[in-house]
Amino acid sequence: MTDYSKELQGKKVLVTGVTGLIGKATVEHLLKKGIPANQIIGLSRKKEPMEDLAARGIEVRFGDYFDYDSLVRAFEGIDKIMLTSTVAFTDRSTQHYNAITAARQAGVKHVVYMAIMRKEGSQRIMPEVTESDLYTEQVLKSSGLTYTIVYHPPFTDALSFFLDPNSYENGIKVPANNGKMAPATRDELAEAHAEILSTPGHENKTYSLGGSNLISFADIAKILAEVKGQPVPFTTITSEEYIDGIVAKGAPRHVAEFITSWVLAIEGNEFEHQSGDLERLLGRKTKTFREYVESTLA
Ligand SMILES: NC(=O)c1ccc[n+]([C@@H]2O[C@H](COP(=O)([O-])OP(=O)(O)OC[C@H]3O[C@@H](n4cnc5c(N)ncnc54)[C@H](OP(=O)(O)O)[C@@H]3O)[C@@H](O)[C@H]2O)c1
Repeated sequence: MTDYSKELQGKKVLVTGVTGLIGKATVEHLLKKGIPANQIIGLSRKKEPMEDLAARGIEVRFGDYFDYDSLVRAFEGIDKIMLTSTVAFTDRSTQHYNAITAARQAGVKHVVYMAIMRKEGSQRIMPEVTESDLYTEQVLKSSGLTYTIVYHPPFTDALSFFLDPNSYENGIKVPANNGKMAPATRDELAEAHAEILSTPGHENKTYSLGGSNLISFADIAKILAEVKGQPVPFTTITSEEYIDGIVAKGAPRHVAEFITSWVLAIEGNEFEHQSGDLERLLGRKTKTFREYVESTLA
């Protein structure tokens, strides 16, 4: 049994993006591992208190990635930070730069950053993702801080984003076919973050957090059909048709192009790397897509 109390003994760990899904789940997993609540701190840019975390003795400090001084104040007395990457279309580079530089100024020792997985040697530039990830990794590695960089696959629980909300009626129509990815749920990735934050040996390392199972969009259609016993017709369409379909539902074209870039990256096997790192950090295999769908339907 791992003794989780040792690594963080007398230290404080701060998780950013604590109002969001993965940040909140990271805090939950730190608590599950037995890290005392008074050593866990959340960062939020919202002024309203987070009642559920406060009730469990977790301090939430105010900090906005765009407000450098607020970050320096929030990071005071912190040893490790989980830097939850910020959302697309918001100048991610500036925000991550501010967080890392403020961490250094505040005397933080170790920053963990989550980037999106890239295939080795890949020249693919995903808008709102690749350039800001590369920049953030370079800023972190040259900051003098101890770093850990984790590479995320697509979230299993966000794959529906790429599909028609009513796939059983309308089928799955994507500019993809059999390109494979190794997704993992936000909760599994958050658990891996908590493991990295609360155990030694992750200094200046990178982890590739591909899940245990490879699936394609064609597999997704097959699995959805099998789970409900209803057909899900699968059609490969062009990128232009896919973009036009998203725009027709009301999204701006640049958002449609962003979504399409993920589908094309999946089709190009950009996220298929299975290093085993995630299984090692979790001590088990990740959920299959079928298990995930069955659990959400239940
Ligand atoms: N691998 C994938 O498939 C995938 C898919 C989507 C996104 N992502 C990346 O993963 C990240 C986390 O995912 P998630 O699902 O947990 O996202 P989420 O629920 O949208 O959480 C994002 C968090 O970032 C915080 N944030 C945004 N701007 C901020 C700012 N200026 N200062 C401080 N905090 C700020 C948000 O705070 P507020 O609550 O105040 O907005 C929120 O807590 C995303 O931000 C994105 O970079 C990955």
